[in-house]
Amino acid sequence: MGFENWFNRTLNKVWGFVEDRTGMPKWALRPQPAFSFKPSYWTGAFVFNAFLYQVVSGLLLLLYYQPSTNGTYLACGQAVGTLSSAPAAWCSTYYIVHSVPMGSLLLSSHLYGAYAMIFLAIVHFFRGYYLGVYKAPREFSWMVGTLLLLATLGMGFTGYLLPYTQISLNATNVGLVLALRLPYAGPLLGPLLLSDGTGQGLLSRMFAAHILLIPLALGALVYAHIALFETHGIAPPATSDPVQRRRFTHKEDEKHVPFMPHIFFYITKWALVYIGVLLGIAALWPWQLPTYAGNLGAAATVTEPDWYFLWVFKLVDFYGVTPVIAVGITTVIILFVLFLPFLDRSPRTHPRDRPFFVIIGNSLVAFFATMTVWGGLTPGIQILPLNVAEVLGPPVVVNAIVVFLFYRRYQARYRARLLAAGLSDRLPGIYPLPSPARATAAPRAEATARE
Ligand code: HEM
Repeated sequence: MGFENWFNRTLNKVWGFVEDRTGMPKWALRPQPAFSFKPSYWTGAFVFNAFLYQVVSGLLLLLYYQPSTNGTYLACGQAVGTLSSAPAAWCSTYYIVHSVPMGSLLLSSHLYGAYAMIFLAIVHFFRGYYLGVYKAPREFSWMVGTLLLLATLGMGFTGYLLPYTQISLNATNVGLVLALRLPYAGPLLGPLLLSDGTGQGLLSRMFAAHILLIPLALGALVYAHIALFETHGIAPPATSDPVQRRRFTHKEDEKHVPFMPHIFFYITKWALVYIGVLLGIAALWPWQLPTYAGNLGAAATVTEPDWYFLWVFKLVDFYGVTPVIAVGITTVIILFVLFLPFLDRSPRTHPRDRPFFVIIGNSLVAFFATMTVWGGLTPGIQILPLNVAEVLGPPVVVNAIVVFLFYRRYQARYRARLLAAGLSDRLPGIYPLPSPARATAAPRAEATARE
């Protein structure tokens, strides 16, 4: 108790000093409304924590990693004897796993941390999609977020080659074939990515992108993303109310929670849980380094990317789907996500009021999940059109019918409620339309926003 009191007093003093000298809660780490005190409101912060872990563990790996395809790395020769001709990039990875104290834990947790960051970013994305957080005034937060997701996937793509295993080299080459077919960007990317056409040229480019260029872009985008978040505050719960209050950033809010120490320690608690689970998994199931690129003695390896790119690899297995078509489909999905805030113009955020976008969202989830599993089970096996229709068609059709029926039933119940309440004048629009007086009225209380 004595320690707790002392700790709280000291923390208040230190933070009071920082607040006074920086004016912090006015421009950063602002108080947030009490309703946000739930993990589901901080999925972005969890992605940010995962990003921080990647930065720290990546910097430690950098102390040992050699971005070279030369077969002269001494430690590899000592460690694996006859394999001394293996590329230095692979050898230094082997050295990290087998000779650096805790090296295996470090490398495995960096790899699984990348999976976790991508997974959390996908969760953060779909949460925002279904709850309509991209609607005014958060359109730019959403667009910057889309670029963040692409940059995060870019980190995964470039990092995959670094151990310089045969499997990672094969998959990177397939990825490059697709990237070079990007409209407009492809021809520009070609000389940048392929360099002089040698393995060393490619590895150097991927290394530079992984440790410097993409992290710089990610850092700048995260900065913009969080600055936008500080400007608008956290998005309120989804609602059917077309004139709900959408900004929460002021200390004057009736029920606000100071960021420091409450929200900060709340997020820190989850960050520590995250690191504990990550290290636990890495310790129990350490990553096994596959054989090196150019090992003539090894059995033929399948060309397989990490799980988050399996869907696109499966796409090019479809009969008639050329790399250009695969790139076209991917570009359409990216553009849809990027401009979503301008496509979905309804002021209502609740999923029950946006059946069309719920159907598209469910179809995207079904598409990515099915393609990922399919790509993992049958890598490189060609699929005929009838088979594609049989596997992908039913989830999309069933989902559309279910969502549509649910929407019709919900509308009917809503109409009945309006009639019972004697509000038949509101029937034509199903919902009460925002009257000018209501729309310009002072922001409504949080309780209404939670409807
Ligand atoms: C590296 C990836 C990302 C990081 C580090 C990140 C970080 C954050 C953080 C810290 C917040 C504040 C609220 C919260 O914690 O949820 C936030 C909010 C937000 N993010 Fe992200 N984000 C990322 C990716 C994305 C993606 C992929 C999208 C969507 C395309 C997105 C869209 C948004 C939106 C619209 C908000 C405001 C929503 C709200 O206030 O609840 N973000 N993000």
